[in-house]
Amino acid sequence: MVRVLFVCLGNICRSPMAEGIFSHLVEDAGLNNQFKIDSCGTSGFHSGEPADHRMQQTAQAHGVRLLSKSRALVASDFTDFDYILPMDSHNHEDILIAQKRVSGSTAVVKKMLDFDDQNQGGDVPDPYYGGADGFEQVYQMLWRSSHKLLSHLRQAHKL
Ligand code: 4NP
Repeated sequence: MVRVLFVCLGNICRSPMAEGIFSHLVEDAGLNNQFKIDSCGTSGFHSGEPADHRMQQTAQAHGVRLLSKSRALVASDFTDFDYILPMDSHNHEDILIAQKRVSGSTAVVKKMLDFDDQNQGGDVPDPYYGGADGFEQVYQMLWRSSHKLLSHLRQAHKL
């Protein structure tokens, strides 16, 4: 079982989309039993809320369903997951600081766009305060990087 956690700030836009796309690809590949997939936020501002309706509309237009409810990152995530994928540099820094406080965490922390050829090492921009274009752009970045992430994990874990 490979355990993958996507992380952004509010867990209502970017990381629910990453979770939705990655779950969709895993299901298509018939690998549901091999993966545990979740998402969370470095903040709990929106705890309990479903994904932002604009992100849900964008996902739906591409045949992806967003089913997650927002929750904040907790200490046990660092031992309950093998891969933690922050959406931007702020999330990345916050996660590395939090991981240092947890003993025995072997989780690999890697920015999501390390898996995107077109934006390698860059940030998935926060679409929350912007226009509709931002949501589509986030979808495209996460679609590309999710494919690469899945290939990488299939190779690494011989799936
Ligand atoms: P997310 O977007 O981190 O992609 O879920 C945000 C959603 C809400 C807020 C910030 C970012 N907010 O400050 O409320």
